[in-house]
Amino acid sequence: MDFKSTMENITINSTQKKEQYKELLPQIESLISTENNFVANIANITAALKSTFSYYSWVGFYLMENNELVLGPFQGNIACTRIAFGKGVCGTSAKEKKTIIVPDVHKFPGHIFCDGNSKSEIVIPILYNNKVYGVLDVDSYEFNSFDEIDMVYLEQLVSLIIQKHKDTIFR
Ligand code: SME
Repeated sequence: MDFKSTMENITINSTQKKEQYKELLPQIESLISTENNFVANIANITAALKSTFSYYSWVGFYLMENNELVLGPFQGNIACTRIAFGKGVCGTSAKEKKTIIVPDVHKFPGHIFCDGNSKSEIVIPILYNNKVYGVLDVDSYEFNSFDEIDMVYLEQLVSLIIQKHKDTIFR
C-alpha cells in the first residue's frame, strides 16, 4: 500500500542541552507554523520537550483563569489542577512576572508538591504587554537540573508561542 505519513517528527542529534535547545526551537517553530489552534500547539510542544530532554520528569502549561492557574496540556504524571495566583513556584512566577529557577524544591517556601519525587523546577511566565496569561512549568527528579541555559531557551520558546497566537489568545 502506498502510505505517506504526514506526522511531523522532531530530530535531535546533539547531546549537550544548549545544542539540543538550539536544534529543537526551529523545529517547534515549524511545527506550530501550520496549525492555528493554541491548545493543539502547546500540547505538541510539551511532547516535543519531554521527548527531547531526559532530565524533565514533568512539563506542562498552567493557564490563567479567574485569578487562578488551571492545568493545561502537559506530559508526565497527573498533576494539581488549580494553583492560586501567588502560591507555589508557578503562582509566584505568575505574580512576580519572572522566571524562577528552584535548584531544590524542598527549600522553596510554599512549593506545591504535585509529585513527591520532584527535586528541582523551572517556571517561565507567559507575558504579553505586561499581562500574565499562564506559565510553562518543568520539573525534574534530580536536584539542580535547571540553569541559565534552560531559562534562555524556554523564554525564547514562550516568545515563539506568544508571537504565533498574539492576535487570538494574547490580546
Ligand atoms: N510545583 C509547582 C506545582 C505544579 S507541579 O510541579 C506540576 C508549584 O509549586 O507551583
